[in-house]
Amino acid sequence: MQVLEHVPLAPLTTLQVGGPARYFAQAATPDDVRQAVDWANLRAVPLFVLGGGSNLVVADSGFPGLVLRIAIGGVERREQDGKQVFEAGAGVEWDALVVQTVAANCAGLECMSGIPGTVGGTPVQNVGAYGQEVSGTIIEVQVLDLRDRQVRSLGHEACGFAYRRSIFNTGERGRFIILRVAYALQPGGAPTIAYRDLKQYFEHNGCPTLVSPGVGETGWGFALKRPTLSDVREAVKEIRLSKAMLIVEGDEDSRSAGSFFKNPALDPADYERLNAAAILLTGSAVPSYPAPARQYKIPAAWLVENAGFHKGYTRGNVGISRKHALAIVNRGGATAAEIIALNHDIQRAVLEKFGIQLTPEPVFVGFE
Ligand code: EPU
Repeated sequence: MQVLEHVPLAPLTTLQVGGPARYFAQAATPDDVRQAVDWANLRAVPLFVLGGGSNLVVADSGFPGLVLRIAIGGVERREQDGKQVFEAGAGVEWDALVVQTVAANCAGLECMSGIPGTVGGTPVQNVGAYGQEVSGTIIEVQVLDLRDRQVRSLGHEACGFAYRRSIFNTGERGRFIILRVAYALQPGGAPTIAYRDLKQYFEHNGCPTLVSPGVGETGWGFALKRPTLSDVREAVKEIRLSKAMLIVEGDEDSRSAGSFFKNPALDPADYERLNAAAILLTGSAVPSYPAPARQYKIPAAWLVENAGFHKGYTRGNVGISRKHALAIVNRGGATAAEIIALNHDIQRAVLEKFGIQLTPEPVFVGFE
């Protein structure tokens, strides 16, 4: 295992801000991971595990310890209880795995097409989009337990999944390094078309197909066929593109960490209070979606916009995406300090106007 020094981290993240890693190594096998952990322990330097860098804000001073980039590859397939299990190395590019599952006509990940990052990051924040979350299919996560340096296998229940949460980013944060993840998918299963944007997409675009004449009929005709997994993948990518949530080289609106804030969930009484304030302040009701435990999920994007940070807002080298109010973007040459300052100002404005404390979604590295 080769340890490099002073390696710039900004190019390894989608937001592209921040300083260098004091030390940097890449791990292609679980054994490399162990070696790297020993290396950091021996020198008493902190360790940070890097995946695809799509949900990170790196401090301008960089990271003072060892940044370990997980490059464990390989996707294995097996049949188990009528499902097709895809077990992927933590370093596999997420969207490459999705492509493979859709091509194999296995349902379960198609709505999470076009998400940047690697497989290893997906259980951490329970990645989700357009009606699916990885918790819906993950059956096993193989980890290196830093308490005793043993490789273990955690089942679905042990991961403690909830909206953008798991044990990996809450109670057991920092304890495990994810090595492999197994997703159990439905062979020949129908795609999930539950999210409003996706339903609307197929209402408008349909899936016209040429059909042959039936018995007693003459002539060919067109009918709407049920969208396939591959149709849903293409639809999701198109929707993400329209929101700059698909990374496109040179598109500064996609130079972001995706959603910068989580969508808050409110109890009915708090929701009523917010709605009354929203009508008073903006003239319209706040959009909401049903959430577990009889709560209401509020789009953070709506709160951000209505607190004064509109799409396309610009301040120095940072701003809000022109296509989605939930993405803080680096307009070119931004510092982490600028990103953090805008983050704080948005949080303050939303708190003052609507009484809601927004929680950032990305992981902050090197800020302590
Ligand atoms: N909205 C606005 N302004 C905007 C955009 C959206 O007011 O600029 C409001 C609208 O009311 C809209 C609602 O927000 O109907 C929801 O917007 P959208 O469908 O774009 O979804 P989101 O709630 O903003 C969440 C995830 C995304 C995921 C999409 C689709 C979070 C924090 N974000 O966004 O995930 O792709 O749903 O499922 O839950 C990510 O986590 O990085 C991410 C991109």
